[in-house]
Amino acid sequence: MQRLTDQVAVVTGAAQGIGRGIASVLAAEGARVVICDLDADLAESTATDLRAQGLDVLAVATDVTERASVDAMAARVVADYGRIDILAANAGIYPTAALAEIDDAMWDRVMDVNVTGAVRVVQACMPAMVSRTYGRIVLTSSITGPLTGQPGFTHYGASKAAMLGFMRSAAVELATSGVTVNAVLPGNVKTPGFATMSDEHQRLMLTSIPMRRYADPEDIGWAVRFLASPEAGYITGQTLIVDGGQVLPEAPLLP
Ligand SMILES: NC(=O)c1ccc[n+]([C@@H]2O[C@H](COP(=O)([O-])OP(=O)(O)OC[C@H]3O[C@@H](n4cnc5c(N)ncnc54)[C@H](O)[C@@H]3O)[C@@H](O)[C@H]2O)c1
Repeated sequence: MQRLTDQVAVVTGAAQGIGRGIASVLAAEGARVVICDLDADLAESTATDLRAQGLDVLAVATDVTERASVDAMAARVVADYGRIDILAANAGIYPTAALAEIDDAMWDRVMDVNVTGAVRVVQACMPAMVSRTYGRIVLTSSITGPLTGQPGFTHYGASKAAMLGFMRSAAVELATSGVTVNAVLPGNVKTPGFATMSDEHQRLMLTSIPMRRYADPEDIGWAVRFLASPEAGYITGQTLIVDGGQVLPEAPLLP
């Protein structure tokens, strides 16, 4: 694959976890990466860390639930760099709650961050891509929702499946514009967010992964890097599962 030299990549939710993994892989491959996150201080310190590794990164405080914030981020990137080649719409939340406990506010919050948040960043970054007839959009969905289900994740699973419905129609709509829209479906990834899940949940997940390890954020970063490459230009509206084989077993694995 060609290096991503001179390409500009926007990554949301990039201050930590999977987003940081995506940002560091794309930057190590030569891209200039914009680290967008709600947590402005953490985004700055992540950018400082990555710059210390010789990577070209910029932190821009961004709340994907606020259209003005997202639009201002995209406008700044275009003003500073003149282009957006890659968008990794990754920001997401996963507060677990039993179905009986989910009220309208919690349901709406998960949808707002995970689904509408991704739509807002796509809409904000799209014009810069369409005007240059080149763009690679990669959404972070999940195996949970599109492929699997588990107690406590009804709102989250619905949001991650909704992202794929959005992706498919967006891919068709943008098909002649040089812009592709794809999604990665991570399994269980070692991130600060995942670390907040119960020990029991983490242990159960590990026993269901044939590779017997959680993903590192960079494992997802490399999948995004492929879908974000010029060479993936004939792939659109597709999903790439990155789960260590978690969805494969026909019977429970032996401990
Ligand atoms: N960790 C996993 O096992 C796993 C598995 C499948 C999918 N995912 C998905 O990957 C993505 C990242 O997950 P993670 O585990 O790295 O999470 P994380 O909680 O460790 O990090 C998420 C980042 O997103 C930021 N964020 C939250 N709300 C935001 C908002 N409104 N605007 C901008 N930034 C915001 C947070 O500040 C944080 O830096 C999510 O979309 C999640 O659903 C995670």
